Amino acid sequence: MTVPDLQRCKRDRKKVIVVTAYDALFARLLEQAGIEVMLVGDSLGVVVQGKSNTLSVTMEEMLYHTKIVAGAARESMVVGDMPFMSYQASREDALRNAARFLQAGAHAVKLEGGAAMAERIEAMTAVGIPVFGHLGMTPQSVHQYGGYKVQGKSAEGAKRLVSDATALQDAGAVAVVLEAMPASLAKTITEQLTIPTIGIGAGPHCDGQVLVVYDLLGLFDELVPKFVKPYAHLRADALQALRRYKEEVEQGKFPSDSESYH
Ligand code: KIV
Repeated sequence: MTVPDLQRCKRDRKKVIVVTAYDALFARLLEQAGIEVMLVGDSLGVVVQGKSNTLSVTMEEMLYHTKIVAGAARESMVVGDMPFMSYQASREDALRNAARFLQAGAHAVKLEGGAAMAERIEAMTAVGIPVFGHLGMTPQSVHQYGGYKVQGKSAEGAKRLVSDATALQDAGAVAVVLEAMPASLAKTITEQLTIPTIGIGAGPHCDGQVLVVYDLLGLFDELVPKFVKPYAHLRADALQALRRYKEEVEQGKFPSDSESYH
């Protein structure tokens, strides 16, 4: 999957499937499953580091995980998620930090925000850095929203999101993530844009979908939003396996003869 392929997906109405990855094991698993776009999301602050939001994730942490995922992925597109304050303070910061993601092996970066971020996207695009936008419930603004709340429910909010989406596209964004907004609004945005929209809690009309891998596999059971569908229940399986292992060691059943060297 390349940036021009993304545009072809939009034209040919082929869904863009995106899943987050933070390590080599999952990067390989996703690739084996035919997932063509991996997002090294700053959601790692919550699902890997156990924090309540993404705000404390650093550039160094993101680059560490991006290098690992990009090193393991062979054919997929790797998108590096720019952490809080790595692109907001200045155009220079934004450019230098975006470049570090590409140097770490990412093929594109993602940043949150609407029209206010257009200038950053334009600058990155001008030097050959493909950018995914991210609109709606943008987790780095959680305190401004007063929690993880659906955005664009009022007529005014919806109008702003439509114009933000257009501003990101005009600035050169290659795709835009739409998070936690009414399905009808995501449909309007998807119809108006010529770049693909990737939904997460934004209904079925987007050009693609993204989920956090641990949510999708039923591994993470805290703070699971309505829009998550667990396609497996690995947390329950893992717990059962761990308890059995503990029991068998305690009872002297493990290791048995077949797991021992002679
Ligand atoms: O950080 C992340 O994983 C994300 C996706 C959920 C869109 O931004």
